[in-house]
Amino acid sequence: MTKHVLYILVPIIVLSFQWANNSSVTATDLQILSSRVISDQLVATRKITNPFPASPEFIAKGKSLYFGKGFCVMCHGRDGRGLEPDQDPGFANGMLPRDFTDQTWQRVRTDGELLWILENGSPGTAMPQFVPRILTEEEAWQVLLYVRSLGRTAVSNNH
Ligand code: HEC
Repeated sequence: MTKHVLYILVPIIVLSFQWANNSSVTATDLQILSSRVISDQLVATRKITNPFPASPEFIAKGKSLYFGKGFCVMCHGRDGRGLEPDQDPGFANGMLPRDFTDQTWQRVRTDGELLWILENGSPGTAMPQFVPRILTEEEAWQVLLYVRSLGRTAVSNNH
């Protein structure tokens, strides 16, 4: 009897520990996977694709926007995993900045949903709107190529 309770409790404890540390790629929080796009725009938004090819030139352009004019690095970190260890999580005001190396998150989001975030921000969180005041739509697509490349780098680092 006690043993059976442990079978249930131990995985729950382990999973909550991983979530709390945001350290596991497999234990993605379901909250993170639910789309940020307003529901009546979701179907159309999901169909939009990035018009730029994922060439080294455009990824490099996106990287310079990530670290420069777009200041994504300030919240998403130098390696795209989110706040740096020395940053106060309270600064993100609720939801934490996304971990771009999270494979599950990368898979469930389409390019259109990512562009939507840059055009609208993520309502109710610290994620600001970037297009059109800070980035043009073209620049947004390029920075998103860099965000996608962070997902691929994580895969090749793991193998
Ligand atoms: C001031 C902090 C801050 C800055 C600067 C910032 N972000 Fe974010 N970002 C966040 C937070 C917080 C979230 C999580 C919001 C949520 O959970 O809905 C987020 C989420 C995201 C998401 C994921 C939304 C989803 O659908 O899961 C994308 C994509 C994103 N940011 C891209 C960027 C890019 C690209 C830049 C730079 C142009 C940037 N962010 C700059 C704080 C920031």
